[in-house]
Amino acid sequence: MSVKIVVGSQWGDEGKGKITDMLSQTADLVVRFGGGNNAGHTVIVGEEKFELHLIPSGILYPEKKCILGNGVVIDPEAIVEEMEGLEDRDISLDNLFIDESAHIVMPYHRKLDGLEEARKGNGKIGTTGKGIGPVYTDKVARRGIRIMDLLDEERFKRKLSDVLEYKNLEIEKIYNETPFTVEKIVEDMRPYIEKLRPHVKNTALMIEEAVKKDEKLFFEGAQGTLLDIDYGTYPYVTSSHPTAGGVCTGAGIGPVHVDDVIGVAKAYVTRVGEGPFPTELNNETGEMLRDKGHEYGVTTGRPRRCGWLDIPMLKHAVRVNGLTEIALTKMDVLSGLKGIKVCTSYRNKDSVNDVFPCDLQRASESKAIYETLEGWTEDISEIRIFEKLPLNAQKYIEMIEEACGVPVKNIGVGPERNEVIKKD
Ligand code: IMP
Repeated sequence: MSVKIVVGSQWGDEGKGKITDMLSQTADLVVRFGGGNNAGHTVIVGEEKFELHLIPSGILYPEKKCILGNGVVIDPEAIVEEMEGLEDRDISLDNLFIDESAHIVMPYHRKLDGLEEARKGNGKIGTTGKGIGPVYTDKVARRGIRIMDLLDEERFKRKLSDVLEYKNLEIEKIYNETPFTVEKIVEDMRPYIEKLRPHVKNTALMIEEAVKKDEKLFFEGAQGTLLDIDYGTYPYVTSSHPTAGGVCTGAGIGPVHVDDVIGVAKAYVTRVGEGPFPTELNNETGEMLRDKGHEYGVTTGRPRRCGWLDIPMLKHAVRVNGLTEIALTKMDVLSGLKGIKVCTSYRNKDSVNDVFPCDLQRASESKAIYETLEGWTEDISEIRIFEKLPLNAQKYIEMIEEACGVPVKNIGVGPERNEVIKKD
């Protein structure tokens, strides 16, 4: 048996799509365990480009079972749109399964996400506006609606009517907005529910069976470590656990079964949304990284903030996820830079340490300390063997391995499926 987890090691958008697509090829089951359609993966297969938000990229392989675990939040309209888009391109959905306990993003969650952000003004989080924070809030407050509730219309109406009593108070009394009605929500949802019904299962049982049968399981993370509600740059985070621990609670598998945790990291760092970013480059180099790396969000199209690689941040990801290896993406974007800066530690008042300052206050008091490595001029996108990389590119990777204490086993040198260097 082999159980592998892939997580983002930075603020999401690390290029997990390509790595997960590669790993999906060898898996029997591909499972998502958290987040919702705030995520976005781009997978390029030949001339075809797939932009997936909720459905695991394993769906592109007809024989793989694809699971959305209980920790994922499902927006029925969004997932149905994605399902239909795949069907239009002759991708079968027979192997798509959604856990019956997964919580549903309701229209009032999307509404409240926007209202809350607008209320915060300059202090906004910069969310994707997909209702993710509000749906997880309701889950924890024990007033969430789960996919199993949707399958029986009477039960759905009963629950919704209870919940709306509270949600409408929030919407009317705090925001002075029009309340939602049970009838309208149920009517709008009906076609989506029928489309989802055949895919709803107790997926923890499927995972248990796969483990017993010694099958290969692959857990596909969304977002990134620094967006984790506990281990991220709180409060500028998402509302779930995109870290490795989220697999156990978000899919129903015990930690003893996990063999490998692969952290995907970009060769530099990007972030969308607000919040601290100590190595951010508000200059020409940052713009160059954005242009060359096509750094615009798949989900919202927002330009991503760009900056130098942050080793304390990577060490944090190694620590809280138990990373066994790193997959480094977008190495090709660094080609042509004369000198490449890397943050190796932080100075806070009079002390220097290598702990990433997750806390807002600490981040504002901390100053990144950099080392400058020599760059390379060659185009590396055709290279497939580590030793054939320019010496300075090899040194860059070896520096990361040494600093983080884990091997870099895959190096992305271009957006295509096969543009990867495997390093033993
Ligand atoms: P939310 O998840 O929409 O609530 O957004 C909270 C924060 O997480 C914002 O800064 C978003 O930009 C960020 N975020 C959420 N999902 C992703 C992702 O898949 N990639 C990058 N950032 C994300």
